[in-house]
Amino acid sequence: RKLEQYNTIDDAAHLLRRSRNIMVITGAGISTSLGIPDFRSKHTGFYDKLRQKGYEDAEEVFEINNFDERPDIFFSLAGDILPNLTRVTPTHAFIRLLQDKDRLQTNYTQNIDNLEAIAGIDENRLIQCHGSFATATCRKCKYKVKGTEIFDDIRAARIARCKRCAEEIERKKDAPPPLKRNKSSSRTRTFDDSDEDEDDNIPEAGVMKPDITFFGEQLPNTFFDRFTQRDAQQTDLVIVIGTSLKVAPVSEMPNYLPHPIPHIYISKEPIAHVNFDIQLLGNCDDVVFELARRAGWDLRHEMIPVG
Ligand code: OAD
Ligand code: ZN
Repeated sequence: RKLEQYNTIDDAAHLLRRSRNIMVITGAGISTSLGIPDFRSKHTGFYDKLRQKGYEDAEEVFEINNFDERPDIFFSLAGDILPNLTRVTPTHAFIRLLQDKDRLQTNYTQNIDNLEAIAGIDENRLIQCHGSFATATCRKCKYKVKGTEIFDDIRAARIARCKRCAEEIERKKDAPPPLKRNKSSSRTRTFDDSDEDEDDNIPEAGVMKPDITFFGEQLPNTFFDRFTQRDAQQTDLVIVIGTSLKVAPVSEMPNYLPHPIPHIYISKEPIAHVNFDIQLLGNCDDVVFELARRAGWDLRHEMIPVG
């Protein structure tokens, strides 16, 4: 069978209309029009900003060991990438449109702003490969809260602490001093032993970490399972939008998919290290608007208020 050649935006529109299992892989570029910086753009990217502030190896801010050692650094910087959850972009709306037209197989997003979910992408069509700000978990006791509960702390550049740990500490303060070991009792509270070590340390509530996947942490299992065992076999079109494809394993997904499956790339800058059939360069909101128009679909070209 002769391999078809795809080059133009009209070819891309034709592919959209013809495909029923579209895999959409997204990155920070789809949210920049809302004022959320991406990571690697010169001057405007979060990592460039960090370098300007003197953090040479900017990615280290997202290393889990650094977070545990110096949570204050993460909390002093994360305010800049905190999503404003009141609007989504035309690009989010485009992915939603694919879903409404029953063409979206899965949206694999590296974004942590949770705006795909807010745009109405079904939970079972959305894989947040790097987690999200939607929830946060205590590093000490694993207590989980809604992400918005720690947004004020992040905005104020203050370490978010765990409420449950704090309550526990309060309870211990109010409680009568622990019983001394009593040999005659079978219900000896042996864990009181450890309390003795802590006597001079003031106990501190655990730090709340947004449930985003840091370097050094595993991606969610659903990511690997769904991609390798289901989506890779069934997909009929891959559209990659607004990501530099610099971070594995997401960067390896397009190459893992055989090339009879057409690959489309939409971003500001061309990409050379991954082979795409069509590259549509420009502001992704403009590109998807034009793409939808040529497919004969109705997509608004404005930010869309939500909630
Ligand atoms: P990058 O900043 O590496 O790439 C964003 C891409 O989007 C760049 O190629 C930009 O040119 C492009 N872009 C920006 N604004 C755009 C716009 N309006 N229209 C079209 N293209 C635009 O971000 P990611 O690839 O998402 O990990 O980064 C991947 C991971 O690296 C992130 O998930 C993050 C980071 O370390 C964690 O937070 C754990
Ligand atoms: Zn806790």
